[in-house]
Amino acid sequence: MGEAPFAPVPALRAWRSRPPDGVALELGAVHGELRIARDGCVRLRVASGALPPDRAAALGREPWSAARVEPFERDEGGVALAFEGPQGAVCVEVAPQPFGVRVLDRAGVVLAELTDFALASDGRARVALRAGARDRFFGFGEKSGPLDQRGRRLRMRNQDPDVRLDRDPLYLSIPFFLRLASTRAGRRADGVLLDVPAPSRFDVAASHPERVGMETDAGGLELLVFPGPSPADVLRRYSAWTGRAPRPPRWALGHHQSRWSYASEQEVRRLAAEIRRRRLPTDAIHLDIDHMDGFRVFTWHPKRFPDPKGLVRDLATAGFRLVCFVDPGVKADPQWSVFRDGVEGGHFCRTRDDRVFTLKVWPGDAALPDFARSETRRWWADQHRPLFEVGVAGILNDMNEPAGWRRELRIGRRVVPLRGQDLSGVEQADPADPTRRLPHEHLRNAYGHLECRATREAFERFAPERRPFVITRSGFAGIQRWAAVWTGDNLSTWSHLRLSVRMLLNLSLSGVPLCGADIGGFALPCSSELYARWIQIGALYPFARTHSMWGKRQEPWRFGRRVEAIARAALELRMRLLPYLYGLCCEAEASGAPPWRPLFWHFPDDEPAADVDDQVLIGPSLLAAPVLTRGVRERQVYLPPGTWFGFDDDSRWVGPRRITVHAPLERLPLFVRGGSVLPTQSPVLHEGARPEEPLVLQVFPGADFQGTHEEDDGESLAYRAGRVARTALRLFDRAGGRLRLEIGTREGTHAIPPRLLRIVVHGCPPPLRVTCDATLLSPGADAPGWRWGEGRLEVRLPDAGTPRCLEVEPAP
Ligand code: GLC
Repeated sequence: MGEAPFAPVPALRAWRSRPPDGVALELGAVHGELRIARDGCVRLRVASGALPPDRAAALGREPWSAARVEPFERDEGGVALAFEGPQGAVCVEVAPQPFGVRVLDRAGVVLAELTDFALASDGRARVALRAGARDRFFGFGEKSGPLDQRGRRLRMRNQDPDVRLDRDPLYLSIPFFLRLASTRAGRRADGVLLDVPAPSRFDVAASHPERVGMETDAGGLELLVFPGPSPADVLRRYSAWTGRAPRPPRWALGHHQSRWSYASEQEVRRLAAEIRRRRLPTDAIHLDIDHMDGFRVFTWHPKRFPDPKGLVRDLATAGFRLVCFVDPGVKADPQWSVFRDGVEGGHFCRTRDDRVFTLKVWPGDAALPDFARSETRRWWADQHRPLFEVGVAGILNDMNEPAGWRRELRIGRRVVPLRGQDLSGVEQADPADPTRRLPHEHLRNAYGHLECRATREAFERFAPERRPFVITRSGFAGIQRWAAVWTGDNLSTWSHLRLSVRMLLNLSLSGVPLCGADIGGFALPCSSELYARWIQIGALYPFARTHSMWGKRQEPWRFGRRVEAIARAALELRMRLLPYLYGLCCEAEASGAPPWRPLFWHFPDDEPAADVDDQVLIGPSLLAAPVLTRGVRERQVYLPPGTWFGFDDDSRWVGPRRITVHAPLERLPLFVRGGSVLPTQSPVLHEGARPEEPLVLQVFPGADFQGTHEEDDGESLAYRAGRVARTALRLFDRAGGRLRLEIGTREGTHAIPPRLLRIVVHGCPPPLRVTCDATLLSPGADAPGWRWGEGRLEVRLPDAGTPRCLEVEPAP
């Protein structure tokens, strides 16, 4: 069957106000709708015939906060809408012929111009965004290739690429990009989301340098434009629509150790004991598919895992949580209750001729739950009972593109898949109207997304007092609401190590703050040197998990003593930084800003910063320049404008400049921005252990600083009701020749017992005077008191949550 031809969208015939926030557009047989949100975000829907039912709620979009607008007829024809409020201001103009939409800011500067609208009668649609020849394009979810995706042709269709991460598409699709435009007034960012779960394509200025083409396979067009001007503004608006990642349980930020598979209780116990014996900080152990009985999801293998409850209990005593793999494929075994139940309840995807569809995957033929139905999501959530009953702490959703195969070879327990399953005849419910059925392909990119929604429901059902921890391989725009993301099956190669940095940056810019790649690489043998370099940067991934395929061993001690020590140091660094990393997750929850940021995030007007794709800002203060090449023992680092300190030696530079730093195998070049107060703690073996020093504020002078340090119980949802401890931190770099650190009153109802606070001022000459609340502190003494040595001033103070003002003279 041939595809229906595209026809340009006809001229605007009429418009009608659609109070309070928009206008309905009539374009012959085409209908459109334009709306403005109070934060200045613009939503445009266009389709042949009637607009399809609104799937926003089903996809988990946040409630639209409608602006109040009065559409008006333009002198040149067409219609315009304008809105100005405290959270945003925007004007939208619709040109009648040819039909086009322009989004402008309050000064009349065009932010986004959409042209060349065309539709086909089968629901396919396309549109183009005009672009500047020097605009750069980031985001697009999980993509290989360069950080700036200009010049690429991208496909969005979730699929398992079979360890070929250089392919496109991959497991997860987020049809969103952040554009960094160069204007006369400086750099400006905005964002565009093609909010359609059917497969789509982007021509990122590949065919024409001043045009981004977008095309979807079904469902017409649904576009959202998120004005900037800064990248942070764009992500704030994008996440106001697609949702924000709730703060994870604090343990989930520790290191996770995984393997396909730790396949018996004894093996897991041995692993846990070994990790602790070797003093390698780790918080979670993952159970891949071999914990199941015949790959029946939600079961335990009776011989290999006879007492999962006992296992969870013993692991907890040693400070480990257990994370279990859950695949969507339900073994088509009529003897098994989950399958029978699913069939009876009508929970599985069906073929066009109304049979339960099965595909080949680990358990053999397996049925796929139709997560587009809310009833099925509820049913799926219920099936998790056996996992929660034994105390599993986290769920990993794998194979949820969904992946399956055409044929397979079986060698013992091992399956060699021949990929390329055909799902063309499969149907699902329309999530906006479950009485209607749609081809699976129309909802393809939302399959894993909605599975994660169901998994989250399982936590709400069985562990309502706990913060969920879900991690997924597949997903769609907005996945961050429900799950963290890992980038699937990579290879133990230097190029995949390098790729992980760019991929995680673009995922972060696509609204997914908690993301990581398999540390050490999933398939192929990993060399000692590669593992060392990988764990160094991997320990700073937002989500840090070592995972590997069967046939190889990738625990930190498998690479010799030297590399084990490197891994230990990397993981200890993560634990030291935990208060900072956790704070970044709280920030992501509040504003959508991801922990991992490309340099241009904080330095949009610095020309060279936009080209840097092998360095990462971790929050506003840390800059990592990992070694990503074999045999390399020094590397060039670009330092953006401002003062920078070497993290481990306090060496000091003033950017912008390029420096060459020494990077022996033991060293990850890491820098701190001058004008930072970094909350840290002393290292612990797992998050639940009590650090010797629970709060060490690392002060790096060089500029003023303002921030908030947030603490809570790390595990429950009580923080939502105000059970937090929030402390404002302000640094005045040169207040009358002194350095002043103001620690605000601790706010919120999370109680912290009296403790000792250590403050370290880096790059500090021997002080003449150190005062706290205008009282002179004496050197050498215990708290309160100070010590100086090797360019560092250390102040110890009792901390009961009362405000403090520390002054050091002279200012460093
Ligand atoms: C998939 C996953 C991988 C997992 C394997 C077996 O390939 O991406 O992480 O180990 O399946 O479950």
